[in-house]
Amino acid sequence: MMDAETKELWQAAVKVRQNAYTPYSHFKVGAALLAASGKIYCGCNIENASYGLTCCAERNAIFAAVCAGERDFKALCVVADSDKPVAPCGACRQVIAEFGIPKVVMSNLQGDIKIMTAEELLPYSFNAASMDEKGEK
Ligand code: THU
Repeated sequence: MMDAETKELWQAAVKVRQNAYTPYSHFKVGAALLAASGKIYCGCNIENASYGLTCCAERNAIFAAVCAGERDFKALCVVADSDKPVAPCGACRQVIAEFGIPKVVMSNLQGDIKIMTAEELLPYSFNAASMDEKGEK
């Protein structure tokens, strides 16, 4: 069972997923991000004929929020039409780690969920502190 906050995020992610631009993979993903301000920012995956330029739903949601001036996040929900809750790719994990998102809700259209922290998704990550430890100043 989802709590009210998770359900609201999941519903937003399911809705934005419909806008996914996926002529190549046909795998549509939606993401909804709850900022500390209380606002929800959404993203879907957007593919490109030059495949590597594709941007995932999670990064589009996080980048939309940062463009709006947000830095502090409470939860991110990602949804796809998959048997198991969809797992963020490695690049998105690095971006999730950058903002230390404490609750990442992975889900599918059936409403199955798996919840992990940024640290659990990407342990021992490269981050701002990594550069402070020792570097050429
Ligand atoms: N994708 C996402 O948007 N998020 C994920 O968590 C996994 C993968 C997208 C990228 C690409 O458009 C499609 O799913 C297939 O890899």
